Amino acid sequence: MAGGAIVHSGGGKEYPGNLTVYVFFTCVVAATGGLIFGYDLGISGGVTQMNSFLEKFFPDVFQKKIRDTSNNKYCTFDSQLLTTFTSSLYLAALIASFFASTVTRVFGRRWSMLGGGVTFLVGAALNGAAQNVLMLILGRILLGIGVGFANQSVPVYLSEMAPARLRGMLNIGFQLMITLGILCANLINYGTGKIKGRWGWRVSLALAAVPAAIVTIGALFLPDTPNSLIERGHSEQAKKMLRRIRGTDDILDEYNDLVVASEESKLVKHPWVNITQRKYRPQLTMAILIPFFQQVTGINVIMFYAPELFKAMGFDDDATLVSAVIIGAVNMVATFVSIFTVDKLGRRKLFMEGGLQMFISQCVIGTLMAITLGTSGERHIPKIYAGFLVLFVCIYVMGFAWSWGPLGWLVPSEIFPLEIRSAGQSINVSVNMFFTFVIAQAFLTMLCHFKFGIFYFFSGWVVIMTAFIAVFLPETKNVPIEEMVLVWKGHWFWSRFISDADIHVGTNVEMGKPNSEF
Ligand code: BGC
Repeated sequence: MAGGAIVHSGGGKEYPGNLTVYVFFTCVVAATGGLIFGYDLGISGGVTQMNSFLEKFFPDVFQKKIRDTSNNKYCTFDSQLLTTFTSSLYLAALIASFFASTVTRVFGRRWSMLGGGVTFLVGAALNGAAQNVLMLILGRILLGIGVGFANQSVPVYLSEMAPARLRGMLNIGFQLMITLGILCANLINYGTGKIKGRWGWRVSLALAAVPAAIVTIGALFLPDTPNSLIERGHSEQAKKMLRRIRGTDDILDEYNDLVVASEESKLVKHPWVNITQRKYRPQLTMAILIPFFQQVTGINVIMFYAPELFKAMGFDDDATLVSAVIIGAVNMVATFVSIFTVDKLGRRKLFMEGGLQMFISQCVIGTLMAITLGTSGERHIPKIYAGFLVLFVCIYVMGFAWSWGPLGWLVPSEIFPLEIRSAGQSINVSVNMFFTFVIAQAFLTMLCHFKFGIFYFFSGWVVIMTAFIAVFLPETKNVPIEEMVLVWKGHWFWSRFISDADIHVGTNVEMGKPNSEF
């Protein structure tokens, strides 16, 4: 039981210990799991634009593309076949994350990471060497499985390893690696696009092996989290690990809480059935809505279609890539803001500031497009307007990069109790992947119909999600992960789902009263 510990809502109980060099490096290595996802997010759009790639694998699409001479900036060339090929990865990841849930729970988090790295590596090799569409698609499915496993296990790993008061910072390492992956991919595509031979696309696809190798080698050396060790019955190892990662011998308090969590966890034989119980309703709601909201911010419209979008804004082909690189850099640099503020300001403030910033910039982008392109989409965008458009796209990306980007991975990974954490994270990953798929598939058609209104459409969702956070998401900063139930119990709305009997953190724990942060 939590000996004499006090948990206040919005803040947290403090266990002894510091941020050790060991835990810092462990988290940095684990976070590289985000590289493979990021690399793929960044590489696919550029490769499927390369003529040599299209000619080899999708000759019909290529013919249609070069015959398409329409000057309508909203209705650019769109092939469902091509986007389905790109999106097959997200569908594979969606399914894989459910299998990863079992591996993560039964064998430990690092085996899922390792599995993710190895599968991605094989996928990269198949894609780089592809001779036909079959190889290409098989490779993509393997990449997807890799992403499913990594995204399922890495955020949970980070949230469990980190000391509560720095959990946000260390967890966001994952998003930072995603953004680094995207940026590298953009730069690589820029370079390979310039290769005169017809094999530039091969280099782009094969280089996915680099992040995959980093993740695989890293996972080989990673220790398992104390939570997972206890869950799997390795108590002594767990104690040792706690001493090592907290840099103190005084770990009994934390250890005991982990044991209580683990006892609870052992009572649950079927996480997938249990997760639907009333007492888990708050966490389940978040695991579904947060990834959904993250995707309907419209971020991947920018990530996938930045080249198309910049073309629509009137830039020529080279400027298109340069702009994609600018967006990649802004995305990455802005992530640091959340790294340094998330454990001080808290999750809610970042969510809300980011939401406001995205809303304003989306409205400005939509309006600038309305003024310049009108509804016909056939006019030219004057340079000065184009400059403003880029500026507001960057402001929008920044807003995302310090709010919904990192928090979309952090919050779901820290709110579930141990017994259903793995299953909960799979739901998070699969909802995320599903809507990434839907948006990738639907965006060009939507742009053609909604025209500049597409930005108002996403801004509407941003209003809804920001209001949702304001009303329904309790603050989770600094709260130890195995004590999170108290946060829900202290929330004005969610408390009704949790009975007193559902709280097992110990009789000595004093429940905090809901405060303004709730
Ligand atoms: C999202 C991705 C997005 C990326 C952009 C991630 O958190 O899950 O869909 O492309 O951020 O940085």
